[in-house]
Amino acid sequence: MQDFLVIDTDIGIDDAFALRYAMLTHNLVGVTTVNGNVTAGMAAKNAKLFADHYNLNAVIAKGANRPLAAPASDPITDVHGADGLGGCYDNPFDAQTPDNAVNYLINLVKAHPHEVTIAAIGPLTNIALCLNLCPEFASLIKQLVIMGGAFGYKGHTGNMSNFAEFNIWSDPEAADQVMLSAIPTVIVPLDVTYEVLISGAEVASTQDQFLIDISKFYLEFTEREEGFYGMAVHDALTIEYLLHPECFEVIDKPVRVSTDGITAGQTLIPQSAMPIPDDNFKDLPVKRICIGVDTAAVKAHLLNALKVTA
Ligand code: RIB
Ligand code: CA
Repeated sequence: MQDFLVIDTDIGIDDAFALRYAMLTHNLVGVTTVNGNVTAGMAAKNAKLFADHYNLNAVIAKGANRPLAAPASDPITDVHGADGLGGCYDNPFDAQTPDNAVNYLINLVKAHPHEVTIAAIGPLTNIALCLNLCPEFASLIKQLVIMGGAFGYKGHTGNMSNFAEFNIWSDPEAADQVMLSAIPTVIVPLDVTYEVLISGAEVASTQDQFLIDISKFYLEFTEREEGFYGMAVHDALTIEYLLHPECFEVIDKPVRVSTDGITAGQTLIPQSAMPIPDDNFKDLPVKRICIGVDTAAVKAHLLNALKVTA
C-alpha cells in the first residue's frame, strides 16, 4: 500500500506553510491550483516558484479559475499580497501547466485507488468538478482533508462575513456538492485554525528565509487589524491533522453549505433536538469536523518540522 498526497491550493502565505510542512512529512506528489487568494494561474506560478526554491519534485497542474456558479470574486490582496506570497520575490515562471488539475486528480485516483489523500486548502471548485466528471471519484480517493468552514466553537463563525469562512464563501456551491458526496472527509475549520496563532518571532525561529520573507506581509496585516504581530497558519493544520489526529477534538456530523443570502458560505450541521418533517440532513454522509485543538502541541510539531537545521 502506497500513500500519495496532493495539495489543492490557492497559494497564499499560509498555503506555503502547508506545502512546506507536507513535503517534509509526506509523499507530496502533486500540487493543483484553484482560484481563491489569487487566480489559478498566479497560484501555478507560485507553485513553480515554491518547487524551484525547495527543490520539490511534484506535478503542478492548474485548475479552475472561477467558482462553479458565480463569477470569480476579486482576489483578497490585503492578506497575502497581489501575488499571493507577500510580494517579496520576483516570479519568473509562467502560468502554463502540461495538464489541468481535474484531469490530473481523476487520473491519479484511478491509477492508485484508496491511496491518494487530497488536502484542499482553497475553494473546493476542483474537487466538485472531479465529482461531476468522475462518478466513482468519491469511492476511489482515500481521504479529503479540507481547510474551510466555521461552526461557531469558541466564537469562530467566519472571516469573510459573520457566517462564512473564505474558502467556502468563495465557492459555496462547490462546497455543498463536496459535503453531499460520499468522499471520506475531515474538515479543519476556523474553530481550530484561529486557535493556533504563530508569532513573528516563532516564524523567525524556523530560520527558513523563504517562509520568513513571505510572512512579513501577513504579519503586518494581522498587526494592523488585530494588534498582534502573528498569523494564523490555517492551511498547515490540514497536514497537522494527517500527522497527529490525536491533537484534535472531533465530531462526526452531516454538513451542508448555505449558497445564497446573507449566510452564503456558512457551513451548517443539524441543530434540532427533535424530529423534524423537513430534515435537510436526512441520510447524508457524515464528515469529521475538528472543533478543538491542542494548540501547544500543534505549534511544537509545526515549528520543529519547519526549523531549518544546518
Ligand atoms: O480562511 C482561511 C483560508 O483562506 C486559508 O486557506 C487561506 O489561505 C485563505 O485562502
Ligand atoms: Ca489557502
